[in-house]
Amino acid sequence: MDTTAKPSQTIIVIFGAGGDLAWRKLLPAIYNLYLDNWLPENFLVLGLDIKNMTLPEYQLHVREGINKFSRSGKTKKKDWLAFEKCLQYKKGDFNTAATYNYVAKLIKQTEKEWAGKSNRIFYMAVSPAFIETIVTSIGAAGLAADKAFSRIVAEKPFGQDLDSARRLNKIICNTFDESQVYRIDHFLGKETVQNILAFRFANALFEPIWNRNYISHVQITVAEQLGVETRGGYFDHAGALRDMIQNHLLQLLCLISMEPPVSFDADEIRNRKTDVLHAIRDIEQLDVHKYAIRGQYGAGWIEGKKVKAYCDEPGVNKTSHTETFAALKLFVDNWRWQDVPFYVRSGKRMNEARSYITIHFKPVPHKSFPTEATGNWQPNSITMNIQPRMFISMNFQAKKPGLQMVLNPVNMLFDYAESYKTGTPEAYETLLLDVMQGDSTLFMRADQVEAAWDIIMPVLKAWTEDAPVYFPNYAAGMPGPEGSELF
Ligand code: BG6
Repeated sequence: MDTTAKPSQTIIVIFGAGGDLAWRKLLPAIYNLYLDNWLPENFLVLGLDIKNMTLPEYQLHVREGINKFSRSGKTKKKDWLAFEKCLQYKKGDFNTAATYNYVAKLIKQTEKEWAGKSNRIFYMAVSPAFIETIVTSIGAAGLAADKAFSRIVAEKPFGQDLDSARRLNKIICNTFDESQVYRIDHFLGKETVQNILAFRFANALFEPIWNRNYISHVQITVAEQLGVETRGGYFDHAGALRDMIQNHLLQLLCLISMEPPVSFDADEIRNRKTDVLHAIRDIEQLDVHKYAIRGQYGAGWIEGKKVKAYCDEPGVNKTSHTETFAALKLFVDNWRWQDVPFYVRSGKRMNEARSYITIHFKPVPHKSFPTEATGNWQPNSITMNIQPRMFISMNFQAKKPGLQMVLNPVNMLFDYAESYKTGTPEAYETLLLDVMQGDSTLFMRADQVEAAWDIIMPVLKAWTEDAPVYFPNYAAGMPGPEGSELF
């Protein structure tokens, strides 16, 4: 990762520029990169969408999104007036050659003005159904030909299953070389997630005990209090397994369990992560019930407010069998991790909004303290809290102050808010800057995506073939279905 250099001149073409992702995430992130002085002087965003908007209307729409969602708060007039000059908008149909001819012409003109080639980033902020047409048309317009300058960014969901992911990879790789493809998993851009590599490999302390000899099990949890909001239509065809486990949670598992990389080279890191995915023990379809639990929320209470059942959410089928909670017990079959269970779980409308990883260590081999001293004894654990609070804590035993020897578990804490007063970039800021700099370390390679699908396919198949008769099985505001905490 180049941590210092500004990217060279860049044109970002956003397909689906009038949609939610561009509004809430991409443009606020680009604006923050501008405020933090990370954008090159020659910089242009071309928004493409089927929506009929003039440029001033688009600029206003973008500004409203930034005012609402940016971590840096409302735009200031002077900054905004300078920034809005980088924005262009074009109403375009993704199915017609005219749209791509327009893009090609604009790029040509702009590069002429800038007197040199620029990075051309094609961002797919669209439903996956459009990707084939867009990618093929970009290729036909000759816009992908320059391997060093042209890049494509693809959002998740990357396919619906292993076959469709393979097909999508094939379509993209017919036009782009793998080195030009940036498949986003936004969790990898989160500050606390990037810190997992620093924690593990920049310290001599933890790596010697980071294995089956000392670790009893690992818990990876992404709990949300939000429901499906306005995305019921999408989510009802996806479910928690596809939406969260196949990508975000498996990526976290890789970072926790990968072997030390030899360097920070993008492919070195991605190879080590892919090794983990290949080492995850196959789950036989018949055994899925032993290794996986699913759930769907019913009506309930979140922070004192009554909320609807999943099946009553807009866009969701009234008799839906889609899971809003999924948990898997996985094993990484290699020398380091043999027989250490990794529990990954994620759900919507849970009792808390919190993403965290806990490494649970084995108990000490022998308790030399008198029995009266050890009533409260707990094995050690390390918790990496990803969000909303960002911290790492270590739980260990200490002597409770007093005249007797009594042991008590205590915490040692590194809290980002206390240690750093500077703001933390949003995941999309990090990832967009990486794309502009041509650094694919934090992006998913085709083989990684396919390996991740391969792991969950038996569960997907079993859950599709065997409809749940017991849904909803947890009330909104509860920590998932009964039994899932023991799992
Ligand atoms: C997205 C999922 O990838 O991640 C959403 O599609 C989920 O369903 C979201 O809510 C969670 O991301 P974050 O960054 O808000 O924790």
